[in-house]
Amino acid sequence: MIDEIREKRNITQEQLETLLTIEDDSVLALQLAENDSQSALHYLYQQAREVADAVYGKRVFKRGLIEFTNYCKNDCYYCGIRRSNKCAKRYRLDKETILDCCAKGHELGFRTFVLQGGEDGHFTDERICEIVASIREQYPDCAITLSIGEKSKESYQKYFDAGANRYLLRHETANDTHYRKLHPEELTLTNRKQCLWDLKEIGYQVGCGFMVGSPGQTIETIYEDLEFIKELKPHMVGIGPFIPQNETPFAKEHAGTLEQTLRLLAIIRLIHPHVLLPATTALGTIHENGRELGILAGANVVMPNLSPKDAREKYTLYDNKLHSGDEAAEGDANLRKRLEKIGYELVTDRGDFS
Ligand code: 5AD
Repeated sequence: MIDEIREKRNITQEQLETLLTIEDDSVLALQLAENDSQSALHYLYQQAREVADAVYGKRVFKRGLIEFTNYCKNDCYYCGIRRSNKCAKRYRLDKETILDCCAKGHELGFRTFVLQGGEDGHFTDERICEIVASIREQYPDCAITLSIGEKSKESYQKYFDAGANRYLLRHETANDTHYRKLHPEELTLTNRKQCLWDLKEIGYQVGCGFMVGSPGQTIETIYEDLEFIKELKPHMVGIGPFIPQNETPFAKEHAGTLEQTLRLLAIIRLIHPHVLLPATTALGTIHENGRELGILAGANVVMPNLSPKDAREKYTLYDNKLHSGDEAAEGDANLRKRLEKIGYELVTDRGDFS
């Protein structure tokens, strides 16, 4: 079955169900020496790795994440920086601070800067364009990625013209009923999907994605996510476990698991050999070796944090978010070592879609 998925670059809902429900300790499967296991999941990961290695070699790309505002006008039930969270300590970085983050990152070999923030009205199109244009001017060789939510096509076009090349906007779920469970009424799946199509049309490299194990997620909704990804053909797919945040309506919900996230990373790699797949901070948060395991399951991107320390502490999308270890920019040398241990090289190039 795994060979078939790899060959056809396609999965049926039945196959997805089998792979997501098969009882098998995949972490153990991953840690076993290659070819030393009869485990189906071991085979799944090995095949996913083979596919990733054939396209990208033993290389992992790094992107520098700059979380520049945690103000948000939206009220998504899962997210710790939702507007109703009165406990969140709000902050914004000014242009100079953002440029300092880029300078620090550039010195550490980062050639992609990801500006991420809540949907913050303070950052008008004009301000965003000014920031993007300054980064573009100082770092003509770098990719600029925006991750600032749903905007009009005109706004997206302005950012693009100012020098942004990539945009991350997780679709969160491709199933309408599930979308309604995760978001208040003013947000719609139709608009979110439209944003992704607009971004593509303008010429951005786009990333969509979803949380694994979010409340209300089922095999069926995941299957719809995979169908949507096939339709959209994004350059990147960001998936990581849902982790409850204490001050949100989902505080008491269960977190997504390492197991399910790894299985889905591998499945997405088999179906989309070229896609950029980050081993996310959330994955590193639920397991100490989460990111390495993600790489071994087919991921090929890491996104260390370039934000100032106090900002990181306040960008609390979920509880216990890592913010001072190897996931941070200062941990660059450590991260490199950890990846070398599993046979991967952390590279500095932009890793443009090939
Ligand atoms: N757990 C995991 N991921 C989350 N995100 C937001 N809240 C959480 C949470 N509680 C993810 C969303 C969003 C991205 C920036 O962070 O998928 O798109």
